[in-house]
Amino acid sequence: MVSVREVVSANAALKSSHEQLTAVFTGATKGIGLATLQAFAKHVPKPTAIIVGRSQKSFEHDLQKLKSINPNGTFIFIEGDVSSMKKIDTLTPIIKTHLNGAKIDLLYMSQGYLPVYGRQENAEGLDNGNAVRYYGRVRLAQNLLPLMSKTGRMISIMAGTQEGKLIEHDLELKQNFAFVQALTQAATMQTLSWDYLAAQNPEMGFVHVYPGVVNTGLLGRSATGLLSWFITWFVEPVVSLFILQPKDVGERMLYYGTTAEFGKGSWALDDKGVPQETAQLKEYRQTGWAEKVWEHTQKTFEEALSR
Ligand SMILES: NC(=O)c1ccc[n+]([C@@H]2O[C@H](COP(=O)([O-])OP(=O)(O)OC[C@H]3O[C@@H](n4cnc5c(N)ncnc54)[C@H](OP(=O)(O)O)[C@@H]3O)[C@@H](O)[C@H]2O)c1
Repeated sequence: MVSVREVVSANAALKSSHEQLTAVFTGATKGIGLATLQAFAKHVPKPTAIIVGRSQKSFEHDLQKLKSINPNGTFIFIEGDVSSMKKIDTLTPIIKTHLNGAKIDLLYMSQGYLPVYGRQENAEGLDNGNAVRYYGRVRLAQNLLPLMSKTGRMISIMAGTQEGKLIEHDLELKQNFAFVQALTQAATMQTLSWDYLAAQNPEMGFVHVYPGVVNTGLLGRSATGLLSWFITWFVEPVVSLFILQPKDVGERMLYYGTTAEFGKGSWALDDKGVPQETAQLKEYRQTGWAEKVWEHTQKTFEEALSR
């Protein structure tokens, strides 16, 4: 277990060990991703961050704030919706252009919302929540792999260590969608996909982390109408007093991306940064499920892209 104090002190030392780092962020327009981006801007002397988000206009204020946190930083915003596999494919060459020949050291992905309203198919035939939470992340990882540094690291902020039993005959949950199962399915498939990529890229690190319960407003934003209003104004202000704050969690996420400990291999980390392997994950790892999930994911991409 690593404390926030240790994390902050390790991050402060980045100024002497990592003068320049290049990172791509998705899902960093709010919440944990934004806090991670701000920690990255604060602690890396010459950071380059390529930020992919849905609305440049909404992010303008935060973009200016990043520049004031670190005037030596380069912060580039690219507009794009990562719920679409087709859109992700068009974003890849744009990211490459902005890299100007540099390699990506870190890929941070934290996009997502809670599936409060069940399965909602998008134009590519995917449940939209799962497209954002899982398929889009793997598509981004796969596309950006050739642009990564040889010792680069990918950090998926979602639900590492929360892996459980998959609905194995319906990985996309077309017939078996339920709130908790959708989260379990994404968590388990994310770690197994990281296992697959780690086996193919042994010099790189693949981290899947559970951030803990964090005061970001995620629940209120995932609902709509009166329910969203009630959660945002009555539930979250009370709950926020007892849960983690984004600033501390952002510092942790930066640490997981830069500590030598997670530099190689596939890691599922809990909210204290402790690597864990659930019994179910262990069984899936021993029975070739990383390859099965990868194969399924590739087939799903083909179907989504053909629509
Ligand atoms: N907060 C927690 O307590 C908690 C606990 C466990 C796990 N997690 C997981 O950690 C991750 C980050 O959570 P968070 O609390 O930081 O969430 P958040 O504050 O709500 O931020 C979510 C991010 O995802 C983006 N996003 C949401 N819906 C999208 C869509 N349809 N298409 C593209 N991008 C979309 C948002 O972009 P816009 O700005 O465009 O809306 C935002 O940048 C999520 O995967 C969440 O499930 C969070």
